[in-house]
Amino acid sequence: MRKIATDLRPGILDELGIVAAIEWVAKDFQRGTGIRCKVTGRGADQISDPVLSTAIFRIVQEALTNVSRYSAASNVKVSLERKGDTLNVEVSDDGIGIMEGKIFDPKSLGLIGIRERVLLLGGEALISGKPGEGTLVRVILPIEKVRTQMPRMRIDYRNGPPSQFTSPSTESSLPAGTPAGATACF
Ligand SMILES: Nc1ncnc2c1ncn2[C@@H]1O[C@H](COP(=O)(O)OP(=O)(O)OP(=O)(O)O)[C@@H](O)[C@H]1O
Ligand SMILES: [Mg+2]
Repeated sequence: MRKIATDLRPGILDELGIVAAIEWVAKDFQRGTGIRCKVTGRGADQISDPVLSTAIFRIVQEALTNVSRYSAASNVKVSLERKGDTLNVEVSDDGIGIMEGKIFDPKSLGLIGIRERVLLLGGEALISGKPGEGTLVRVILPIEKVRTQMPRMRIDYRNGPPSQFTSPSTESSLPAGTPAGATACF
């Protein structure tokens, strides 16, 4: 039951932040599978964008599910590392290694899902494996881009138009369709 609830809504993201939420997932994973799971997070705790943090959470969940199902690994590392305006997310295991043919197989829906999420956020995903040496899922996501793609607009009708908008010259510079008495803040 707890698993279903976690799968539907990662509410722990809001409560804990992305790094602690991933640590929680890792502990749960380690307890359930017996595969050692180590998490490192450098600079990632400043990420508060819910679109970005949900994407990271889902990507790591999918990669870990794959590790538990297919890798036969003893250890897996999850790393979240901020580098300037990008966030690098890596899930690497020391298992059998993903077969090359599976990486771009149209039936590999989990991996396709990872790539789609990453593409929507303007990032890139790299998936690789070496026989006997493990699998690496690496995702590089822009941090700033996500924020600027989602401008927040607030319209405040309570106090009427501010005085600078009441003169004919500035009123005409408002975007067409702006309701009288509205203040738009971006
Ligand atoms: N960590 C891994 N180690 C070894 N093989 C892997 C690993 N991750 C994925 N694979 C291989 O790649 C395939 C595709 O993975 P993908 O997540 O896309 O699909 P799936 O897990 O089979 O199905 P779904 O994710 O849709 O439930 C897997 O079936 C498996 O053969
Ligand atoms: Mg999968």
